[in-house]
Amino acid sequence: MNYRKKLIEVALPLDAINEASVREKSIRHGHPSTLHLWWARRPLAAARAVIFAQMVDDPSTYVDLLRSDARLRRKAEPLLKERQKVWEKARQTAGLAASDNNSAPDPGPEPTLDQILAELERERLFKIIEELVEWENTTNETVLQQARDEIWQSWRRACAEHADHPRAKELFDRRKLPAFHDPFAGGGSLPLEAQRLGLEAYASDLNPVAVLINKAMIEIPPKFADRPPVRPVTNGKQIAAPNTWQGAQGLAEDVRYYGQWMRDEAEKRIGHLYPEVKITPGLAAERPDLKPYSGRSLTVIAWLWARTVKSPNPAFAAVDVPLVSTFMLSTRKGKEAYVEPVIEAGGYRFTVKAGQPPNPKAARSGTKLSRGANFQCLMSGSPITGDYIKAESMAGRMGARLMAIVAEGDRERVYLPPIPGHEEIARKARPKWKPENELVGKCRDQLPLYGMNTFADIFTDRQLVALTTFSDLVQEARELIRRDAAAAGFPDDGKPLAAGGTGATAYAEAVGVYLAFAVDKGANYWSSICTWHSGRDTITSTFGRQALPMVWDYAEANPFSVSSGNFMSGINQSGRFLKSTLPNIKGNVIQADAAAQFTSKDKLISTDPPYYDNICYADLSDFFYVWLRHSLKPVFPKLFTTLEVPKADELVATIYRHDSIERAEEFFLGGMIKAMRQLAGQAHPAFPVTIYYAFRQSETTDEEGTVSTGWETFLDAVIHAGFALTGTWPLRTEYTGNLKKNVSALASSIVLVCRPRADDAPVATRREFVNALKTELPVALAHLQRSNIAPVDLAQAAIGPGMAIYTRYAQVIDARGNPLSVREALALINETLDEVLAEQEGDFDADTRWAVAWFEQFGFDEGEYGLAETLSKAKNTSVSGLGEAGILLSREGRVRLFCPQELPAEWNPSRDSRLTVWETVHHLIRALEQGEEAAADLLAVLGGQADPVRELAYRLYTICERKKWAREALAYNSLVQSWPEIERLARENRGPQEIVQRLFGEE
Ligand SMILES: C[S@@+](CC[C@H](N)C(=O)[O-])C[C@H]1O[C@@H](n2cnc3c(N)ncnc32)[C@H](O)[C@@H]1O
Repeated sequence: MNYRKKLIEVALPLDAINEASVREKSIRHGHPSTLHLWWARRPLAAARAVIFAQMVDDPSTYVDLLRSDARLRRKAEPLLKERQKVWEKARQTAGLAASDNNSAPDPGPEPTLDQILAELERERLFKIIEELVEWENTTNETVLQQARDEIWQSWRRACAEHADHPRAKELFDRRKLPAFHDPFAGGGSLPLEAQRLGLEAYASDLNPVAVLINKAMIEIPPKFADRPPVRPVTNGKQIAAPNTWQGAQGLAEDVRYYGQWMRDEAEKRIGHLYPEVKITPGLAAERPDLKPYSGRSLTVIAWLWARTVKSPNPAFAAVDVPLVSTFMLSTRKGKEAYVEPVIEAGGYRFTVKAGQPPNPKAARSGTKLSRGANFQCLMSGSPITGDYIKAESMAGRMGARLMAIVAEGDRERVYLPPIPGHEEIARKARPKWKPENELVGKCRDQLPLYGMNTFADIFTDRQLVALTTFSDLVQEARELIRRDAAAAGFPDDGKPLAAGGTGATAYAEAVGVYLAFAVDKGANYWSSICTWHSGRDTITSTFGRQALPMVWDYAEANPFSVSSGNFMSGINQSGRFLKSTLPNIKGNVIQADAAAQFTSKDKLISTDPPYYDNICYADLSDFFYVWLRHSLKPVFPKLFTTLEVPKADELVATIYRHDSIERAEEFFLGGMIKAMRQLAGQAHPAFPVTIYYAFRQSETTDEEGTVSTGWETFLDAVIHAGFALTGTWPLRTEYTGNLKKNVSALASSIVLVCRPRADDAPVATRREFVNALKTELPVALAHLQRSNIAPVDLAQAAIGPGMAIYTRYAQVIDARGNPLSVREALALINETLDEVLAEQEGDFDADTRWAVAWFEQFGFDEGEYGLAETLSKAKNTSVSGLGEAGILLSREGRVRLFCPQELPAEWNPSRDSRLTVWETVHHLIRALEQGEEAAADLLAVLGGQADPVRELAYRLYTICERKKWAREALAYNSLVQSWPEIERLARENRGPQEIVQRLFGEE
């Protein structure tokens, strides 16, 4: 059965998607990443665009409809004429070359109206995607509805077309879109976006923490959508009329209300462990900056501690000396503060000073001697080695000493020395419970070396008291909410959330999930491996990276402050996220092993599996699991059956779970193939499956700079599982800075677009494969180029259509009868790509073809006149003619191309009697340096030259990339990426005459 090609199988506006994805990284308010931490979340922008493009038909599949659109035809016809002119020229060139016995590329088939109509329609769909990916449009119903309408149109076409399908009733119901499934749902970006686009979403993951995150994102909000909060009254005031609560706003308000209740209740119980600091006149006398606070009590933001060991110097063996990585407390300009240790009476004390330290380098280094665990004794200067510190900590002699206090001032941080009594109060804390679970796997990297073997060891006693108190309060809050909800009219049916309840009990449990998440956020900011960030004056979180590192001097946050690391910030973030959801469609979340799940049946699938050994989710998430289990086990008994996150079936290749690298790899690949098979076998037949593959930067740069073995292995697994590929889209989401200027930025992930391979797929010979590449790749490349893909992404994106050919066959057999490997297929695809780009030179004039060949050899450097002359003969031009064309400089037997900066600013193309594509590209680059407006002015005068200009820029970019000429590559990449904007401005701008007048002062 034939299914329509989807947009994602032909073209994507990658640039817009990448730009929005990068921007999203800095969004904090309302983003799911603020609801609960998960590692390696996909940007929502990318997830949304991919699902949309996976669902809408490519316009080439409905040109008959487009033909009947009179307005579109009017737009397409002049474009067709221009395209035909260029084609006609190429045809004549080819004819001339043939009659002279020269070779020139085949001009290809004549452009057709259908092609142009489809291109214009693709542009329209791109515009929708460009709007859709903007963070600001996350809750913009107009933009979202436009996208949903588009999805529905394609869906109705599919239903009409497959009305006779033997399973039409289940598969093609024109009143209901197919559901969505992500079997590796993790932090939930993909199911959330599917839901936003109007699909019933299913999410599954092996990890209970991920399952819970997805429940909080897509399953719980729709259950209680559009209901007023059970506590709509704050301080005796009605917050809003009962019928004005939309989406999850009511739920958000209750999370806030009961979060505040928990905070206040906790303060009553353990507030005495978090004393304020009194600024005594004595303290203020020593520190003039403290004068305005003299006599006042300030709330503490954090207590800063230094771990200690006994001095290795026998003369000070009784002294617990501090291990301090820096004495700087704040490095903010004008607000500097630092710790100054004072040695006295056979020991030491810490003082805190405002201003620049007298010896900044020494202050910055603390008591550290070099990287790693290498310190010096504060008392004697004797070195303290890593081995010594490990031995002391294993013997239980590592301690901690209060070094400084950060307090809330008047819109500033106030840095203070240890205040008498504060250390003692902290030491009085006695937790009733602690998570005694052993650290395993990735979590054991460093901490066990210092005697920290359980999760309890990561926290101070005061932190454990806080976490247990707040966790207990989640349970108490549930009971309170249940009563309030029943009083507010929820049925008091006792039916739990996990059993599909929606009454008072279920609502209380639902609110409890977000409250428990705020406790997890607390855990992330309340461990003894959180540091004080002196540059930003804030506490850093436990998971600054995907590991649990040893930290020497740590910050202990005050949950009751209103600053960094306080409890209410987690509550508020949950509330903001809930307000940004659009819970109008059901979500379903289950715990399942992707290698053995049956949820995918007949669903649209987009997924993002773990990549090899990149992140050990199960190990890391134990950190949160132990607290969630403490507060939510009665609500989700099945999810929290085990003491720790289940690990055995997690698809990561870790040696410690599988004894050797080989076994780890075998497990990973075997499991991945099984998981992919589930998808190939179950996916809804009308849609391709999309799979994200996360790159590790180190892998993308082997000797040739392109191929990566991890990538090949993954492709192999996907193909082995029965998939054929129809697209590969590089997503560049990890770097910062101006995308147009960042050529060296590599793709951070690739989206593979796959369809199940036909059971009766034929076997092909290598020759047949190569021939198919040569015939089909040029067309696919033309699509990619017209969709303005950045030159830097072209090679990666071209793998898609290439692999589509390779995977259409059951096997490709080489001359010796051996199957052609993925690696060999990739090499052939790259070779063909090079050839196709070289062939596009057929679209260029003779001077440009000479210049490309010369550039390939010399760039903008000089070469021999004789060589230039010989080359000019082969290209049917002459050096003197090239000089006249303004392309080169010929002097004293040497020749070189002009670089863009040397080109005359007063160049007027309408007066150039020997106008070449080469000049056009380089003048545009020159103009672009002054901005897109300037380039647009020039383009307006040049008229419709888009295709050859863009093709030349691609060609030159490929040459530069191969030659590693980064600066030149940047210029060509920028021109292509700016092209749509330049074209838009050129169209919008005044008429060419007016520009000629303005630029060149001519009538
Ligand atoms: C790359 S993450 C997904 C991230 C997600 N797309 C997001 O945006 O947050 C991969 C996920 O696969 C899950 N996983 C690992 N092995 C699994 C298995 N055998 N079955 C199901 N899920 C598994 C991990 O728990 C992790 O959440």
